[in-house]
Amino acid sequence: MSVPDNGTARTEAVRPEAARTPVTVVGLGSMGSALAGAFVGAGHPTTVWNRTPEKATPLVALGATRASTVAEAVAASPLVVACLTTYAATFEALEPASDALAGRTLVTLNSGTPAAAREMAAWAAARGARFLDGAVKNVPPAVGRPDTLLYYAGERAVFDEYEETLRVLGGDTVHLGEEVDLAALYEQAVGGLLLPALLGFFQGSALVTARGLKARTLVPYTIKWLEMIAEQLPLMADEIDSGDYTRPLASVGIFHEVLPDELQLAEEAGVDGSWQLPMHALVARAVEAGHRDHSISALVEVLRAPRPSGA
Ligand SMILES: NC(=O)c1ccc[n+]([C@@H]2O[C@H](COP(=O)([O-])OP(=O)(O)OC[C@H]3O[C@@H](n4cnc5c(N)ncnc54)[C@H](OP(=O)(O)O)[C@@H]3O)[C@@H](O)[C@H]2O)c1
Repeated sequence: MSVPDNGTARTEAVRPEAARTPVTVVGLGSMGSALAGAFVGAGHPTTVWNRTPEKATPLVALGATRASTVAEAVAASPLVVACLTTYAATFEALEPASDALAGRTLVTLNSGTPAAAREMAAWAAARGARFLDGAVKNVPPAVGRPDTLLYYAGERAVFDEYEETLRVLGGDTVHLGEEVDLAALYEQAVGGLLLPALLGFFQGSALVTARGLKARTLVPYTIKWLEMIAEQLPLMADEIDSGDYTRPLASVGIFHEVLPDELQLAEEAGVDGSWQLPMHALVARAVEAGHRDHSISALVEVLRAPRPSGA
């Protein structure tokens, strides 16, 4: 496992090691190990615990301390970062450390719903712990890079107190607000783009490979396409926020007209395009609702008015 060089480590190198906040990392899967590695690399006294203890071994070789129980791990540091699969797993893992949590700050960095984040916050508060919920918006090898995004929600004063330490995990460290479920909300609101975007790429790959071409040939053009989409997002967000869809760069009607071609191409190539049908139905509903000449961002209005199930 490599220790990320994130520049923070260099900044902190001028601080005596004793001045660096001791950190405990609970959960040493792919992401938790990367987080713990970043703390060790930046010179933080780092205590680690994992249900399957062997996963701590590479970190111990780098200088981390292995705790033999989760309670011992929590007791070792004022800042406890938990990175397990879910909130449910985090409750289960931390329950035996309940008494040790009083006076500590718990930071959870896992996927889950805003409701589960609120439940986690209440659970931590009942044990006398301060709490931040966060999300890592990148893959484990990116942990510690200056451009890696992590966002947090919860009490501002707690974030401020630990911001420098948390910045070790990624230079783009953001506090979203004091409402503790905001990180989970943004995690899902941003993350929801991933599968539809990837499915678009996979469908394109199925189409070109059906012609004997390599998926790799799509990559430069797909990246340009994604950059174009990224450029449009501020404009579309303004349309959504103002509710004014009347100056479209791309109209609902244009999408409505070209969609049948996409389905026909998939059929000709022997590719399953059925995953697109619900999107086509949304566009058709937008046309029915009078949005034909409006910006494609008016689809938000259709999403805001879900059809009763079965309709
Ligand atoms: N990997 C990524 O690319 C990535 C990127 C962004 C965000 N994340 C988020 O980071 C979180 C962790 O992901 P990961 O990739 O590190 O997962 P992972 O490699 O599967 O590791 C899961 C961790 O959770 C622990 N765990 C699960 N259930 C547990 C339980 N009931 N009690 C105690 N420990 C339990 C596992 O312990 P054992 O080792 O004992 O099984 C392991 O340490 C997830 O919420 C994920 O969405 C991951």
